[in-house]
Amino acid sequence: KPHIVTCTAPVNIAVIKYWGKRNEELILPINSSLSVTLHQDQLKTTTTVASSRSFQEDQIWLNGKEEDITHPRLQSCLREIRRLARKRRNDGDSGLDSTGLSHKVHICSVNNFPTAAGLASSAAGFACLVYTLARVFGVEGELSGIARQGSGSACRSMYGGFVQWIMGQKDDGKDSLAQQVEPETHWPELRILVLVASAERKPVGSTSGMQTSVQTSCLLKHRAESVAPGRMVEMIEAVRRKNFAAFAELTMKDSNQFHATCLDTYPPIFYLSSVSQQVITLVHRYNSYYGETRLAYTFDAGPNAVIFTLQQHVPEFVQVVQHFFPPETNGGQFIKGLPVNCTD
Ligand code: DP6
Repeated sequence: KPHIVTCTAPVNIAVIKYWGKRNEELILPINSSLSVTLHQDQLKTTTTVASSRSFQEDQIWLNGKEEDITHPRLQSCLREIRRLARKRRNDGDSGLDSTGLSHKVHICSVNNFPTAAGLASSAAGFACLVYTLARVFGVEGELSGIARQGSGSACRSMYGGFVQWIMGQKDDGKDSLAQQVEPETHWPELRILVLVASAERKPVGSTSGMQTSVQTSCLLKHRAESVAPGRMVEMIEAVRRKNFAAFAELTMKDSNQFHATCLDTYPPIFYLSSVSQQVITLVHRYNSYYGETRLAYTFDAGPNAVIFTLQQHVPEFVQVVQHFFPPETNGGQFIKGLPVNCTD
């Protein structure tokens, strides 16, 4: 009978963005990045892997639809997990009740949020795939380097809380790994709200977008060499001290610089919509009205805003959003309250 394992992995939201690779195949970035992993029960991928000696070939279904298992990134993850499993068994560890090395797998993965809407679905997806496969094959230990080969941002979803992806220096990528900066319990007042401006598929995917940016944007080169390293240090410090104003300002500036590099890309890439721009204006007005930084926005490769705030400001901000962006203007899916930690 088949051996079946189900796991979930949450989305992560980068506050210092990853944009640009120095090695396309191994997925090695041109700068380090830092993110906040959401709570397990919110935006997440659930993956079930079944293995059996009677399966003829590896197969995968994403959100109910069969996808191409020969996709190079999927193959990298499968190959690396099987390599670790083989190594472990050669080392004399039988990997108790784990799958036989020759067994084929059937993989089913579902997201509880729109795929490819710039909500980091590939991050949760590949993190979950690698984690579940590791369980099936009885592999333990450092797995972020394998998740990275599925999708760069996925390596950060292998850990909870505040996570940095250290870019590394080596050509083989062995030192390009994710590392937890602070655990999920560190900053319990921090909250995330996702303002869904559009659930449509993004016009330019991150993989090809960042490729064009690396080839054409000198602003991106400047960012990677001279801006991102300092921001990593400052961001880690802001997180450690739970300094919301510093955290928020860096988050907004880094999102803005990422989108500036997209505009500096030739031909230019536009991920922000007019709704995104209205959200940016609203956040700055809100902060200046109170004379303190209570909100921060960040945008990935899509128009949806992710807002960071502290617990005590959530109810009022939700009202403000509902006032300026009533549900009828966007199909009623504009707001989702997402605490980082579900303590309430
Ligand atoms: C804007 O990790 O999706 O969300 O490595 O090519 O799969 P690939 O790209 P991906 O890029 C994410 C880009 C981003 C910023 C971030 O999450 O750091």
